[in-house]
Amino acid sequence: MNFKLVKKESTDTVIKFVFDNSKIKDFEAKSGQVCVRYEKKETIVYAGLGDRKKIDLDSLRASSANAIRCVVGLKRSKVSFIDPLFKLKNSSVAILEGAILGSYVFDKYKSDKKSDLKNVEFVSNMNKLQFDTVKKLSESVFLTRDLVNDNASVVTPQKLEDIAKDISKSSLVNIKVLNQAQIKKQGLGLLNAVGQASSVPPRLILMNYVGNSKSKTSSCVVGKGITFDTGGLNLKPSGFIEKMRCDMSGAASVLGLMRALTLLKPKINVLGVVAAAHSAIDADSFFCGDTYKSYSGKTVEINNTDAEGRLILADALSYSIKNYKVDKVIDLATLTGAVVVALGDVYAGLFSNDDGLSNKLIKSGSLVGEKLWRMPVDDVHSESMKGDIADLSNISSMGRNASSSTAASFLKEFVGDKPWAHIDIAGTAFNENSIRGEIPKNATGYGVRLLYEFLTSQK
Ligand code: BES
Ligand code: ZN
Ligand code: ZN
Repeated sequence: MNFKLVKKESTDTVIKFVFDNSKIKDFEAKSGQVCVRYEKKETIVYAGLGDRKKIDLDSLRASSANAIRCVVGLKRSKVSFIDPLFKLKNSSVAILEGAILGSYVFDKYKSDKKSDLKNVEFVSNMNKLQFDTVKKLSESVFLTRDLVNDNASVVTPQKLEDIAKDISKSSLVNIKVLNQAQIKKQGLGLLNAVGQASSVPPRLILMNYVGNSKSKTSSCVVGKGITFDTGGLNLKPSGFIEKMRCDMSGAASVLGLMRALTLLKPKINVLGVVAAAHSAIDADSFFCGDTYKSYSGKTVEINNTDAEGRLILADALSYSIKNYKVDKVIDLATLTGAVVVALGDVYAGLFSNDDGLSNKLIKSGSLVGEKLWRMPVDDVHSESMKGDIADLSNISSMGRNASSSTAASFLKEFVGDKPWAHIDIAGTAFNENSIRGEIPKNATGYGVRLLYEFLTSQK
């Protein structure tokens, strides 16, 4: 779909935003409601915004997304979006984001392709640079969504490496990939254990984006890339296993972020890290009760093979911190089912050892509509992760209680005193319910815009 910034519309299908006092017959114009009217030669899609006093960036994004989906349903090939140019800061950006993000369809496996919509005119006097930024960021979100939506048999650790190599064609990115032999040799024993049963072996992928060569440090972003989570020998039951191709969402968001950086070239430095493994079951599966040695040297006894995300992240976090100059680390991971119970698909769980970092992340999230809710990581949680025969256990002695916090406290063991934030996206990365504004069903692409906003707003 091609989005173009224009000064005047040239199509006969037009999207207009209206408030609840607009007096359009039989249309209440509540926030998010859409109706179609045929007036003279024009088709007008009215996008309701409700009460004028209550509009915010979230409601603009959602209305805009609903309107574009309505046009897709009408099977039009062209549409013009009239930007109402509200005084609200960034309103044009939010409307454009809603329009582009809402136009996403994953129809790779549909015989009948849904969308005829090819050209979208955005009638606005917003600045061209802002327009291009939204377009490129949204393209990067689509990369993330496509990777998460596609088959686990297609999106393997090898595929994640191929995408990372493609992104690293940019002269601003240097890539290093550890293959399985190097993972073993360099002692990333936890990443190796999780990935060793698969015919597609694990990888550690490190993409170093240098947009500011004068600065010697960078921010590090690490993504969980379990390309399918069977649960290992602690096999996941029916009802839980079906959507586990989404378990590489953190990695897909890191790849989306790196793509955005190469397209938009901000003057910052970012190390993007993907820990990729297929947690499969076969004769080589890692065993319950066995102890494995992590890259950091700490030993970990495996009391549940389904708690695999924390294992691969532990090695990825300590490897990145030891081998690169990074001043803070943020990891994104579909880590625990408990965060879905606590926060659903609206907020991601945020766990951190640094209040400043947390507050900035929360602020960036609320600006872009990818919300975060901070949850505790306490010494009591850390205490509960002590091992019986090893230094650590990969599950907590508190059982299922506070299991998002205990998982976070396990990760904390591997970051030393580096400012660190862990974002548990098990609920927000994959929407099993119905479409909500710019958030489609299935893969949402959560994290790309949040991290881009956070990293580029840092001084
Ligand atoms: N990948 C899952 C977490 C998950 C759950 C992601 C639902 C997306 C939706 C993770 O590897 C897992 O299995 N976690 C277990 C940990 C438990 C065994 C301590 C969980 O949360 O149940
Ligand atoms: Zn698991
Ligand atoms: Zn998992």
